Amino acid sequence: MLFSLLAFTALVQALPNAGGGGSLVRFPCSQIVIDRIDPLVNPGQIPSPHIHQVIGGNAFNATIPSTDVSSLATCTTCSFAEDLSNYWTANMYFKARNGSYKRVPQIPNRGNTGETGGVTVYYTSSGAGKTTAFKPGFRMLVGDPMRREAGVNPSMKMQSCYRCYKGPNFKGDDLSPCADPTVDTEGFPNKMCSGIRTNLHFPTCWDGKNLDSPDHKSHIAYPTAGPASFHTDGGACPSTHPVKLPQLMLEIVWDTTQFNDKSLWPEDGSQPFVLSTGDPTGFSQHGDYVFGWKGDALQKAMDGACFGATCTGLKTQNMATANKCAVPKTVNENTEGWIDKLPGTGN
Ligand SMILES: *[C@@H]1O[C@H](CO)[C@@H](O)[C@H](O)[C@H]1NC(C)=O
Ligand SMILES: *[C@@H]1O[C@H](CO)[C@@H](O)[C@H](O)[C@H]1NC(C)=O
Repeated sequence: MLFSLLAFTALVQALPNAGGGGSLVRFPCSQIVIDRIDPLVNPGQIPSPHIHQVIGGNAFNATIPSTDVSSLATCTTCSFAEDLSNYWTANMYFKARNGSYKRVPQIPNRGNTGETGGVTVYYTSSGAGKTTAFKPGFRMLVGDPMRREAGVNPSMKMQSCYRCYKGPNFKGDDLSPCADPTVDTEGFPNKMCSGIRTNLHFPTCWDGKNLDSPDHKSHIAYPTAGPASFHTDGGACPSTHPVKLPQLMLEIVWDTTQFNDKSLWPEDGSQPFVLSTGDPTGFSQHGDYVFGWKGDALQKAMDGACFGATCTGLKTQNMATANKCAVPKTVNENTEGWIDKLPGTGN
């Protein structure tokens, strides 16, 4: 536990009211499926434009009814057994000189054991004012799969980033995510790393009315002082989106070490990784969220001054149990080993 505590001490220290009412829960969720469907952005479309890795509950499908997802799913790959939400992001691939692609494996995050692939999920309440948990049917999107350049707004930098590990055992991850320009970049790092970490910060302010919106973003907003301010000043919300939500953050650890061989990298000196969107810049990383916690479990977690992967009153399960939760693949295409093309992208 000490190890995992160290891993996010900086984040907690940055909370305005650390230890005095703010909560930070951090827990692993294994991959439940890699598939080319997207029930948020392309509902019912089989296949959708690019593949995703999905974590969470087994109600994931090409279409997910916008009801209480916690009553549709019967199991979850997350260690909090009451989190039947789904979360999905782009996958990362290595592109070889001959044009073939190989998926970059993911490893258990610092302090975690037992997750297969997957993502570490964080929910934070700032302690400054009431944090209101998402409602049944709530959905949202962070990032833009079409984006290929740096954010115009400097604060966009804090929305998502890649951290280039400086050495084995997550060396360099003892700083708040997306906060250190010496290790964090908005696009892919342009050098060899001892692993790459992706962080995605979802917006933390809600209009209080709409569970979703046509672009899956308009019903939510970042705090007035920008994405990172949730951690630094409590994240005051704009008047258009006055309801403070938990800070949902996804963290993915990519094991790039098998590709750390200059003779495999592009001869022009560029970096070799691409997202499953076909994007060699990394700017198109995005995260989709369909809320599915049971009852008031997430509200309890936000109100309970909880820290880490346990929280009084919340049910957990071990990862061996979590890993038994599965959904069948909808689109049968090969995403593993050396593949000639990235599914759906034309590349
Ligand atoms: C997904 O939806 C299809 C079509 O409605 C259905 O046949 C299938 O059972 C669903 N899968 C899951 C895992 O719910
Ligand atoms: C492409 O290059 C990779 C890495 O060198 C190699 O493992 C793979 O077999 C090659 N694929 C083809 C089709 O030549």
